[in-house]
Amino acid sequence: MRTPAPPLAALLLTTLLGGAPAAAADFMGRPLAQTMSHQGAPWLTRDSRMREERPELLWTWLNLGPGDAACDIGAGNGFHTLVLARTVAPSGVAWAVDIQPEMLALLGERATAAGIDNVRPVQGTQTETRLPADTCDVALLVDVYHEFSDPAAMLESLRESLKPGGRLVLVEYRAEDPTVPIKALHKMTKAAAHRELTAHGFKLVGQLDTLPWQHALAYQRDDGPDPAQEPTPWTPQTAPPPTQTPAPTPR
Ligand SMILES: C[S@@+](CC[C@H](N)C(=O)[O-])C[C@H]1O[C@@H](n2cnc3c(N)ncnc32)[C@H](O)[C@@H]1O
Repeated sequence: MRTPAPPLAALLLTTLLGGAPAAAADFMGRPLAQTMSHQGAPWLTRDSRMREERPELLWTWLNLGPGDAACDIGAGNGFHTLVLARTVAPSGVAWAVDIQPEMLALLGERATAAGIDNVRPVQGTQTETRLPADTCDVALLVDVYHEFSDPAAMLESLRESLKPGGRLVLVEYRAEDPTVPIKALHKMTKAAAHRELTAHGFKLVGQLDTLPWQHALAYQRDDGPDPAQEPTPWTPQTAPPPTQTPAPTPR
């Protein structure tokens, strides 16, 4: 469990969040987090992330393959985008959406260095993905939904961006779990995520409970009569701990 931040850590957090004060707005009773500044991008590609978050479990579960269109929403500097791009190559595309051009520039540098040429960057807005309609087989949202300043508008835009039958996959740090060393404002409960998604035109179609720190919930547009699923409650036994004790994090 995290202890109260000492002055230096508080200063670091303020810097990463662009000097912004704590979030003032809320959505359906949940306080909104500030956008993570591009100045914090190195944290997204830190060496320890693979063992802390076990993203390979998520990537396998997404079940993407060559020719698919993978949309990384809130792509940051492309930790997930580059893997998605390799997975859907050679005929598929990884769309990378972010509101910060600096993040997209960092992502572009990383893609070039890795020799990956099927990433399409898109500068979105606080209310729109700016993707063409009916584009995504999967829209992956890792550690971003909780910081949308206008979640309702983004969910409406995401509904339009999905292909028919496409999945929105929401990945958020577990708020129910005090062992996840992330600040409370940057975590979500399954119940809150599900309440917000189902209130805005989505139905649950799958869930992954084996990530060490995160919930992963898969949704589709709720346009038909199919019966809705409910998320199973998270319990401490469902997810293994990371393979090593994590270092303190600014998030
Ligand atoms: C904490 S980072 C996560 C980056 C990446 N998903 C990862 O897991 O490495 C959140 C990113 O979402 C972006 N973001 C915030 N609100 C957004 C929005 N409405 N549309 C697109 N990107 C957004 C931020 O600019 C930031 O780069």
